[in-house]
Amino acid sequence: MADRLYPPSEEFVRHAHVQGMEGYRALYERAKEQPEEFWGELAEKELDWFEKWSHVFEWNPPFAKWFVGAKLNASYNCIDRHLTNGRKDKPAFLWEGEPGDQRVITYQELHRLVCRFANVLKGRGLQTGDRAIIYMPMVPELPVAMLACARLGVTHSVVFGGFSSEALKARIQDLAAAVVITADGGWRRGKEVRLKPAVDEAVAECPSVKNVIVYQRTGSDIPMQDGRDHWWHELDKDVSDDCPAVPVDSEHPLYVLYTSGTTGKPKGIQHSTGGYLLQVRMTMKWVFDLHDEDIYWCAADVGWVTGHSYIVYGPLAAGATSIMYEGAPDFPAPDRFWQIAAKYRASIFYTSPTAIRAFIKHGDQWPAKHDLSSLRLLGSVGEPINPSAWEWYHKTIGGERCPIVDTWWQTETGSIMISPMPGAAPLKPGSGTFPMPGILPEIVDLEGNPVEQGREGFLILKRPWPSMLRTIWGDPKRYADQYWSRVPGCYFTGDAARQDADGYIWVLGRVDDVMNVSGHRLSTMELESALVRHPAVAEAAVVGKPHEITGQAVVAFVTLKQGDWKPEELAEDLRKWVAKEIGSFAKPESIRFSDGLPKTRSGKIMRRLLREIVTNNTVAGDVTTLEDLGVLTTLAAQHDDEA
Ligand code: WT7
Repeated sequence: MADRLYPPSEEFVRHAHVQGMEGYRALYERAKEQPEEFWGELAEKELDWFEKWSHVFEWNPPFAKWFVGAKLNASYNCIDRHLTNGRKDKPAFLWEGEPGDQRVITYQELHRLVCRFANVLKGRGLQTGDRAIIYMPMVPELPVAMLACARLGVTHSVVFGGFSSEALKARIQDLAAAVVITADGGWRRGKEVRLKPAVDEAVAECPSVKNVIVYQRTGSDIPMQDGRDHWWHELDKDVSDDCPAVPVDSEHPLYVLYTSGTTGKPKGIQHSTGGYLLQVRMTMKWVFDLHDEDIYWCAADVGWVTGHSYIVYGPLAAGATSIMYEGAPDFPAPDRFWQIAAKYRASIFYTSPTAIRAFIKHGDQWPAKHDLSSLRLLGSVGEPINPSAWEWYHKTIGGERCPIVDTWWQTETGSIMISPMPGAAPLKPGSGTFPMPGILPEIVDLEGNPVEQGREGFLILKRPWPSMLRTIWGDPKRYADQYWSRVPGCYFTGDAARQDADGYIWVLGRVDDVMNVSGHRLSTMELESALVRHPAVAEAAVVGKPHEITGQAVVAFVTLKQGDWKPEELAEDLRKWVAKEIGSFAKPESIRFSDGLPKTRSGKIMRRLLREIVTNNTVAGDVTTLEDLGVLTTLAAQHDDEA
């Protein structure tokens, strides 16, 4: 059966930046045929530069440079230029805290806050090239801290507030960061999530950290260490409202963001300034069709790449008004998001399939209570969206009026790679449709040869693009191996995909040992190494199991060392252990104990079989390489220990 198509309405097309498939194709062809002219012209038009480039692009595989020799500043591009282009009094952020407190921050006010905090950082001795860790709740001071770093050329690394002190410590140490910017805590489901205690634990083993700056959000009692810890509001007392933006090289690392890979150690994905900023800015126009009057809401957390690119740098570079919300989507009731969308008259709303599935479960009565007629465009990101969730989103939230942009990209790609342009592509629920200008995807087999149309294969990107990662912080070899060696000269995404007869791309999910839980990336190896650090654990194997809401859920198979263990208690203990080693969002949904794990003759754990067990409770695949079949039968017979 042919897929049902959802073309954009005539009215949407008339108003859109890119109109119809002809509009899309013209852009795509130009970018493909004349990439340097294409990006060079956009860079000139859409960003402000202190010094121009000598040439647009340089490629020493696998290392790329964009806008070579040029100088700019991301904070200047996100704020200062809007003070003279008519957006001075336009709100940059319409912020709402979980308890209901509100702040409207205009571009003028954002400028003041960022300059003041940049002066605070300067006062603490921070300078261009230093690294800062940011570990904060979703308050406006989080983007302020990022932009203040960018203003000085200090490379920031935001650590999501759900990460534990262990994870925080590893990131501080990897970057040898000089400062940690944090808060006493934040609000989540009516409770305080404390942050400063985790910082204290982490920093105790981080000699590089000379200063900890603490923003007061909750007002709870926290210990401050003399000489090292400072209140943001205290340091803010003696600084000026002005701080010139430092011109940095186009390739200067704007930020490093850690993400899970296929080993136990997270990768510090390093992004540039010029190329990154240009492509996030362009996708605001191409994908979100942003117009000056839009009220745009990306409901992600700034701690993940979605928040970096589509709450902070993209929208601000584009001069948008964004809604920013601190807390949980279902607090105090499951209609909190719809209440906020209606109250601020949101016109663009961007969230994850996991959130959408949770809303479906809560029931249609919650969105029905609110006037969502201001919405004109919806977006989805983080994992494949199942067609039924897509249909619900389209009908119940979008009133059958709003196109849905299903955006495929990664922490590494920096900006959206595959997505509909909403005024162009007739949509098919579940397909990301077509590549962005300048992006050349291909679906290939193990040898790197294109697969036949309609067949599943590995998704690769054949040409470097401006917002791509530049390296893995401190590990260029891992960068080259991981991304550029499978198909030499091409970027290996780690995802499987297929292209249908109409050329639509369908991204199917990861092909490596990376799981996707609630749109967040978790590494099999990272979880397994955390588990085997526990004194009771001999061996662990972790797999993803299909889950109705979160897409995948973590199931851990564990064999124990000799000892008198009580499985029930131990399971709970192990879940807490993972929360401590990585973060509470990484806790396995279930733990299964067994006497052995299925292995190949060479001793490799056969995760494929374990995946089959958790998915179907049977094993159908090829088991001839298996060492101990007995182990397998026992595992399949067990039921989940829903600890
Ligand atoms: C992985 C990247 C990029 C923002 C959030 C996640 C999966 C992401 C889609 C989509 C199908 C998607 C892929 C990708 N993914 N968006 N629209 N359709 N899959 O960033 O943590 O770097 O994870 O998320 O598997 O490789 P991330």
